[in-house]
Amino acid sequence: MHFRTKIAALLSIAFGVAAVTPSVAGEVNVYSYRQPVLVQPLFDVFTAETGHKVNLIFAEKGLIERAQQEGRLSPMDVLLTVDIGRLAQAKEAGIAAALHDPAIDASIPAQYRDPDGQWIGLTGRIRVIFAAKGRVAAAKDLTYEALADPKYKGRICTRSGKHVYQIGLLAAMINHHGADGAKAWLAGVRDNLAHKPSGNDRSQVKSVWQGECDLALGNHYYYLQMLDDPEQKVWADAVDVIFPNQADRGAHANISGMVLGAFAPHKAEAIALMQFLASEKAQEIYASVNGEYPLRKGVAASPALQSLGAFKIDPLPLDTISRERGQAVLITDEVRYDH
Ligand SMILES: [Fe+2]
Repeated sequence: MHFRTKIAALLSIAFGVAAVTPSVAGEVNVYSYRQPVLVQPLFDVFTAETGHKVNLIFAEKGLIERAQQEGRLSPMDVLLTVDIGRLAQAKEAGIAAALHDPAIDASIPAQYRDPDGQWIGLTGRIRVIFAAKGRVAAAKDLTYEALADPKYKGRICTRSGKHVYQIGLLAAMINHHGADGAKAWLAGVRDNLAHKPSGNDRSQVKSVWQGECDLALGNHYYYLQMLDDPEQKVWADAVDVIFPNQADRGAHANISGMVLGAFAPHKAEAIALMQFLASEKAQEIYASVNGEYPLRKGVAASPALQSLGAFKIDPLPLDTISRERGQAVLITDEVRYDH
């Protein structure tokens, strides 16, 4: 084939390919506290469907501060993060735009969205009690309140009270029992600790396995992750997963979620990505990669998660919980939980 003919043929192939992708393929910049392994599978499907390229900026810390410093010049279109603490922080930092999108609002229950539209939940994470198999009587009837019962003295393990997961739970307790009630509760839990709070959620389960304590607090998905880990499977096998407060208000749920950048340079693509993340297909993928609960109504949890059984969730809106975070930090200091 003549060189020029060959070029023409190649060009026609290129144009042929271009014709099946959207004519205005754009890009979207995502700041993510969530690991690439969790979010990249979603971005791949989004890009295949829309042609929009996703530029992922991942960091474990400092993304909200970075966007804040960048101000109006920030390239951040979308922020992905876990925990209501971080989502509320993004709002407070002024880096979140209000988004009231009919498709998203119809998919994600209001309990998991900011009333001002500045953050939107995507997946649910339950703060469960891990109870030593065979060492806790009537474990399935446990409540968060029971963790302060003197009969569990020296039998409880938790991570630092300052961690966002613990602050979220305490903020919910403030809503249910008032600041004084929540403070008395936290002091009771502190008095029951087997040792000074340290380590992450998984290491509390390890402590149960080692016999240091009988009850630990942790997020539910760690149980599934430990089952899949050759070293940690024995830790998980040593505990039952208890969804607390099933006879009354239900278990405390926190969320992972998304934020539209206040100065998003690719706003249309950002909203398209956010609509995609709330879609049925993305909710199935997102929830299954990390063992989290899809927040979209009608999307089933992964089979691994369903094996933990059905349970009731505390209907308290995350925004209501979030307002007590400052008080929760104060109380944690006042009772010297970590000391
Ligand atoms: Fe976590």
